[in-house]
Amino acid sequence: FAGLEAGLRTPQPHSTASAAARTLTILYGTETGNAAEVARTLLASAIDKGLSCTLCDMANYKVRQLGQEQDLLIIVSTYGEGDPPQPATGFFEFAEGRKAPSLEEVRFAVLALGDSTYEYYCQAGKRLDQRFEELGAKRLTPRVDCDVDFEEPAKAWIASILNALVAEATGDRLPTANLFSTVACAPTATYDKRNPFPATIIEKIAIVGRGSSKETRHLEFSLAGSGLTYEPGDALGVAVQNDPAIVAELLDAVGLSAEADLELKGSHCTLGEALTSRLEITAATPRFIDFWALVSGAPLLKQLQDEDRAGDRSVFLRTHHLIDLVRRFPVQGIKAQSFISALRPLQPRLYSLASSLSAAPNEAHLTIAPVRYTLHGVRRSGVASGLLADRAHIDSALPVYIQSNQHFRLPADDAPILMIGAGTGVAPYRAFLQDREAKGVSGKSWLFFGERNFRTDFLYQREWQSWLKDGTLTRMDVAFSRDSADKVYVQHRLKEQSHEIFAWLEEGAHVYVCGDAANLAPDVHNALVDIVAREAHTGREAAEDYVRSLQADHRYQRDVY
Ligand code: 2AM
Repeated sequence: FAGLEAGLRTPQPHSTASAAARTLTILYGTETGNAAEVARTLLASAIDKGLSCTLCDMANYKVRQLGQEQDLLIIVSTYGEGDPPQPATGFFEFAEGRKAPSLEEVRFAVLALGDSTYEYYCQAGKRLDQRFEELGAKRLTPRVDCDVDFEEPAKAWIASILNALVAEATGDRLPTANLFSTVACAPTATYDKRNPFPATIIEKIAIVGRGSSKETRHLEFSLAGSGLTYEPGDALGVAVQNDPAIVAELLDAVGLSAEADLELKGSHCTLGEALTSRLEITAATPRFIDFWALVSGAPLLKQLQDEDRAGDRSVFLRTHHLIDLVRRFPVQGIKAQSFISALRPLQPRLYSLASSLSAAPNEAHLTIAPVRYTLHGVRRSGVASGLLADRAHIDSALPVYIQSNQHFRLPADDAPILMIGAGTGVAPYRAFLQDREAKGVSGKSWLFFGERNFRTDFLYQREWQSWLKDGTLTRMDVAFSRDSADKVYVQHRLKEQSHEIFAWLEEGAHVYVCGDAANLAPDVHNALVDIVAREAHTGREAAEDYVRSLQADHRYQRDVY
């Protein structure tokens, strides 16, 4: 899709288009690739219906063009506290800033992707939807907000908007189908999110030492026979199943039988099957609180529905497993069909790939640190990491697919790379260095790695050391946060090397940050700004501009979660 990503314009329709045909642009902001996927589906359907249109990633969009747009279809996802995807930050700053043009001549529609478990559900889409209206643009159709199971509503939104545009362009005549079927997209892999490949686990080892406070593991999957390929920076999607013990516990808590028959998305299955492989049953959601308030009549749950109780609601959600919630507010005689109506579809989990196909053909390596937590006196595990750590073994197979990540890519040439990561965030750098070594790319590289303890948690230590020896890795700095009284993090190491870091940036280095989104990513970001301010002897604002321009040039990329 490289050409399309860059904003390729499909040929102009010559037979059906009226003189007044308007230009149509599809603009997407994506972090993990879902919005990009919907955007490409929209493009393919638009082409199919004979509409001429352009597809563009917000990350590459020339913002000065915005005022010249005519019909603009926007697909954008939301992260964290209602933030846009990181690659779309520049677009949002422009659109929401003082320099945004009048959009009186523009018509638009927004499809917002999000996750209703979060307080700021679909907020990035809501922000653009409102801002475009403020700037005078006319809405083609009302905004649609999609939860994690975005496929169906996205399809409906695409159909409704394209039908309206086609009806308008042809004066209600039926569109000429497949006018542009020659503008075909690259064939898609046979195995994808909807049709994952059962990949066999061929290796599973602990990569932390005895006595570590963590349980980090290295897993290798075989992709042999799948035809699946990937690039360093991509992620592996793993379709997961809930722990049968949790399913049994939940069934017991709600007093339902695993054999109860129900309908889910148009087909019949048992409640046991639905709770095992189709629905999320660990985290409660605001929607589930609403539902359980209704069926239980519990006053506390009703209070938590209040608009101004958002803070208490998120504390409640953080401190209650779904099982804790239904146990605390028992409901007699609920029906299986009714119970599942407020549960969300079980989503595959994404893990940054720790290998390169050039070094490990037909394999996909992952670095996994299981999530463990204790709620109401019970020790529980994350859905996927619990599965991968405890229940998946060598020779068992799990359904997987590749989630490409165009926003975490090695430079096309041998430009220097600065790799910053903590914990499992080091995974993609193993892929980067495997790739550079296998392809004989001689560019400089510098790894900043953070973990808790040197003795037990130096993930892949021998591999980095051998790459240092053969020159694949030029430098390495480590920050072991729990070996000393004062916490030392990767950003402290960066600042210690301030002068050198800035020299690398000036030489054209690409910077990568991988790991924790809540704290590490903003802390490292601030460290980079500080470094630029200090070394370039500028104010903070100029330093921020410098870092922003790195981002705009795709030389500062993040894979944070
Ligand atoms: P800590 O757990 O000792 O606080 C991987 O989890 C490593 O990232 C650990 O060493 C952890 O330190 C560290 N870490 C925690 N918060 C961080 C932050 N805000 N910035 C960078 N590293 C952090």
